[in-house]
Amino acid sequence: MKSTDFHEFIWRGMKSIGKNGTSNHDRKRGAIMASKTMASGKDLNRSVIVRVGKKIRKKINPYLKRYSKIGDDAVMDRRHFPWLSLLEVQWEVIRNEAEALMPYREVIPPLSELSPDHARLDVEQKWRSFFLYGYGYRSKENCARCPKTSRILKNVPGLRTALFSIHEPGMVIAPHKGVTAGICVVHLGLKIPIARENCAIRVDDEVVHWKNGEAFVFDDTRRHETWNHTDEDRIILLLHVDRPLRFPGSLLSKLFMTGIRWSPFISDARRKMKAWDKKMADVQRSRTSSL
Ligand SMILES: [Fe+2]
Repeated sequence: MKSTDFHEFIWRGMKSIGKNGTSNHDRKRGAIMASKTMASGKDLNRSVIVRVGKKIRKKINPYLKRYSKIGDDAVMDRRHFPWLSLLEVQWEVIRNEAEALMPYREVIPPLSELSPDHARLDVEQKWRSFFLYGYGYRSKENCARCPKTSRILKNVPGLRTALFSIHEPGMVIAPHKGVTAGICVVHLGLKIPIARENCAIRVDDEVVHWKNGEAFVFDDTRRHETWNHTDEDRIILLLHVDRPLRFPGSLLSKLFMTGIRWSPFISDARRKMKAWDKKMADVQRSRTSSL
């Protein structure tokens, strides 16, 4: 809450008490101020959580990495993830389901709308995300829209998040770091622009150009950035999976992930997802009935 909002709210309250009764105007004004204060209070809570979370993660992430069973590389050795080949052999099946969603792309939400905390990374809203799983929550509706992909994902150990990540032409994500070393990020190329040399991700000093049907895994707590300097969409399947950890790192990571799962960020995102799902269902219904 901004201190000016807070002072005005208190001042208005005192003024109305001093008046020995309130006019309609004051009551309306009071209600507006109260709702404004509640909204600002929510923002304050979120910024406190972000600040505390950043402090905690600075301590937790090096600790988690000490218990890593797979080392601490920026781009990880794929031998630690033998199930990647299960995704790769079926990449065309997954790609077909992702492409079938493209006629509805305007109702696939920009990530920045589901998660305002991503807004600074996607100012132009060129990053659309179709979630099948998000932080352990399964989207029943979206999994039903992509039944084959959803079946394939059942073979992925420690799956937390799965989404089709669409970067529109010109999309650039500035360098940033992920939240927890308790997860690894997987990218599977589904529809990579022909000029793939102009479309890539950099993790620390390693630059990886996506390729159709090829997957790789990286540590997103390393500084990373992406760019799509082409005139085509770039579509990948993006997963978060648990990093294989020894005890007690494994326990600490589970507790941290539970905290994230119950945070207002995830509950807000889930609420917004419901609204987007309704939009998608309405559009699908209206298009089917007009056939
Ligand atoms: Fe990232």
